[in-house]
Amino acid sequence: MISKGIILAGGVGTRMSPLTKAVNKQLLPIYDKPLIFYPLSILMLSKIRDILIIVNKGQVNQYKKLFQDGTNLGIKISYQEQNKPRGLPEAFILGEKFIGKKSVAMILGDNFFYGQGLSKNLKKCTNLISGAKVLLHKVPNPELFGVAKVNKNNKILKIIEKPKKFVSNLAVTGLYFFDNKVVKYSKKLKPSKRGEIEITDLLNIYKKKGKLSADYIGRGGAWLDTGSIEDYFKTLLFVHAVENRQGVKIACLEEIALYNKWIKKSHVQKQIKFYGNCSYSKYLKKLLV
Ligand code: DAU
Repeated sequence: MISKGIILAGGVGTRMSPLTKAVNKQLLPIYDKPLIFYPLSILMLSKIRDILIIVNKGQVNQYKKLFQDGTNLGIKISYQEQNKPRGLPEAFILGEKFIGKKSVAMILGDNFFYGQGLSKNLKKCTNLISGAKVLLHKVPNPELFGVAKVNKNNKILKIIEKPKKFVSNLAVTGLYFFDNKVVKYSKKLKPSKRGEIEITDLLNIYKKKGKLSADYIGRGGAWLDTGSIEDYFKTLLFVHAVENRQGVKIACLEEIALYNKWIKKSHVQKQIKFYGNCSYSKYLKKLLV
């Protein structure tokens, strides 16, 4: 069972400037809560309670203001700074001490997942014993993502970062599950032409050793990378539509923690006081009756 998770929440957010000039992307609102609530909820739905949030230099305090050490959410949150965005696998180098001898999940701070059967799927992924696992999703614009070419038996043949020519329409989403070798392999990676160490190179190391497997987010599931203004806005509209139509909240962290039996109603009361008089608190109050 994977019990540790990393949220990579740094980056400069160039594609979303000027929104990201003064505020980190992961703190921007997706409708009624900051973007980071969504990837954090995914780790919590995966029953992962020991979480490291990696942020840009000088931004730890902003995130601490939101979550403190995670006690009121029934989880343990630690923070680590990344001096410069040197690439996604740097998370495993910076997180070496946090990971220790364990396996680890990583989710990108700007990735949004939602859908029927998602929790069940996540549980399967956290059962990983050795190797690495990725979640694939069909997209109309594969040139914007890491993509996977698979054979008839769903075996991954290769993984390519943002291919210029069409290879496959299966994007590798920003949620990854790795065994402990990830630290050692990440340290071996050399920067690509764009000057970053690449997650696709890391995945290809596992692939070459026959240790990379894939699961799928099917038609009933939604995956959105909120990296561009257009996708960010689409995600916001999606959350607004689902929440107002169904009367349930997506990524209500206290609701997940209560459901997991990680916190008591008294913790929720503390959170209501902390958030103040807002629609999120009103929703929390309903959980108490
Ligand atoms: O969203 C899925 C895609 O994410 C994958 O399909 C690609 O294979 C993967 O490379 C990545 O592509 P992006 O172009 O979306 O990565 P981006 O540079 O936008 O970084 C994703 C998030 O990680 C973003 O919230 C910023 C953060 N980040 C990024 C880097 C490179 C960091 O915190 N530190 C970093 O060093």
